[in-house]
Amino acid sequence: MKVTPSDVTLGATVTEVSLAALSDDQWQRIEEAFHQYAVLIFPKADLTEDEHIAFSRRFGPLERTLSKRTARQEISLLSNVAKDGSIAKPDDALGLFLKGNRYWHTDSSFKKVAAKASLLRALEVPDTGGDTEWADMRAAWDALDEVTQARLEGLVAVHSYAYSQSKVGGIALLTEKERDALPPVRHPLVRTHPATGRKSLYVGRHASHIIGMDEEEGRALLAKLTEDACQPPRIFRHRWHAGDIVAWDNRCVLHRGHPWPFGPPRVMRRTTVAGDGENLWAIGKLEA
Ligand code: OGA
Ligand code: MN
Repeated sequence: MKVTPSDVTLGATVTEVSLAALSDDQWQRIEEAFHQYAVLIFPKADLTEDEHIAFSRRFGPLERTLSKRTARQEISLLSNVAKDGSIAKPDDALGLFLKGNRYWHTDSSFKKVAAKASLLRALEVPDTGGDTEWADMRAAWDALDEVTQARLEGLVAVHSYAYSQSKVGGIALLTEKERDALPPVRHPLVRTHPATGRKSLYVGRHASHIIGMDEEEGRALLAKLTEDACQPPRIFRHRWHAGDIVAWDNRCVLHRGHPWPFGPPRVMRRTTVAGDGENLWAIGKLEA
């Protein structure tokens, strides 16, 4: 197995390993690399859906998906192909929902226990566009001066699905009952990674405002922190090929998708690793 770090603060490419037949020793090296680089690219891993799920479970119990478009609760469809085979239009419900992913975010931060990791697998990709990009919130924290760090430490942000979808108009994909199951939640603005002890900024498009601060002022602060954070050398971009799978650490990186020309299919499937703690979205965990 070979781990090749990128030339920026996050991201590495892992090759010469069969993820479908992983030894415990190889898994340990992958986990170490995951903690160090936060984004791991496995080019042309060519996993089946079962293998994708099995590899994802190495990271921990999975989350149930929000979407009912998928047959399996472990799989989120990030696809512009609707059930009837038609391609999502930029302004229909599916198109608007997908558009939301173009803004820097961290998965499931609108849930009480946010996601630990995501593993995204490419099935079909357009010839141009549709790259995904990640930003290192550990390096972003490290780059802040001490006065700013002291000012931010202890602040709590409200994250809300209704808020983030209201900006893109993508809420129509959920029923009222599903929306009611996603009330606004609170997360600290600064998180400490449980494995590495490194601090990172926890922001992104689901973050609406800051507790105890004027709403507009908090929103402006969140926007400014995100803007400043997501700059070189803290950003890492991947051009997809069918069969690639990428794992990222939602606790310490933001990500966003880049647009592609309207027309070609882009079919991606994602598993989401549940965050630690009492997590209602974790499959089989509370029952176990
Ligand atoms: C995701 C996501 C962006 C993309 O899978 O969580 O935000 O490029 N994807 O598809
Ligand atoms: Mn995402």
